Amino acid sequence: MSSQKGHRWFAASYDFLTRSAEQRVLHRLRKRVVGAASGRILELGVGTGANLSYYKSVEHLVATDPDPFMLARARKRAEALNVKVEFHQAPAEAIPFADASFDTVVSTLVLCTVDDQSTSLAEAKRVLKPGGAFRFIEHVRAEGFLGKVQDFLTPAWRWFGAGCHPNRQTTAAFKAAGFEIVELERRPLWLTPLVIGVARPTRLAR
Ligand SMILES: C[S@@+](CC[C@H](N)C(=O)[O-])C[C@H]1O[C@@H](n2cnc3c(N)ncnc32)[C@H](O)[C@@H]1O
Repeated sequence: MSSQKGHRWFAASYDFLTRSAEQRVLHRLRKRVVGAASGRILELGVGTGANLSYYKSVEHLVATDPDPFMLARARKRAEALNVKVEFHQAPAEAIPFADASFDTVVSTLVLCTVDDQSTSLAEAKRVLKPGGAFRFIEHVRAEGFLGKVQDFLTPAWRWFGAGCHPNRQTTAAFKAAGFEIVELERRPLWLTPLVIGVARPTRLAR
């Protein structure tokens, strides 16, 4: 559950817990997905700031997270990297910005944890400018038997992972929220496959 109170120990151990995945896979994916973000950028669920060193074409970077312990770590990392970031404590379900105010929204390993995916995606769509891009790296429910294993593990996984669900159908949620997925790659990572891509708000038919 996303809480304004936060998860002190999850935040403190996050970089250690993800180190091996960062080195094996995530580093390369962040470079590609985050490195291509441009213009006015909104990052949802910035966590400890793992993406901050990958931004290249930034006009203005805003980063949000509801967890104050995560935000404190991201702030420190931004300072150490000398990256200019405007931080806000906010959940993806209630983004505190005007309609059509960002060129790019970035979310990496966040839609697994938000309380409400459809509200979060509706909010992201609202703040994106027409033609804007939602760039993502997310882990999702596997197909077949592994998906059933994930379903079984979900209650414990949520507890250990500060609300993370291993079994969400995130690409379907993008489509249901009115996005078109214009780039998509799927690849394995431990028990839970990753989806890496770009989604754009669908144009309304006239
Ligand atoms: C697994 S971490 C990912 C952190 C970072 N994006 C990364 O790629 O390493 C999930 C993050 O989502 C944040 N989060 C939890 N609930 C959220 C919500 N409702 N809206 C936005 N972020 C949320 C958590 O506080 C945490 O920082």
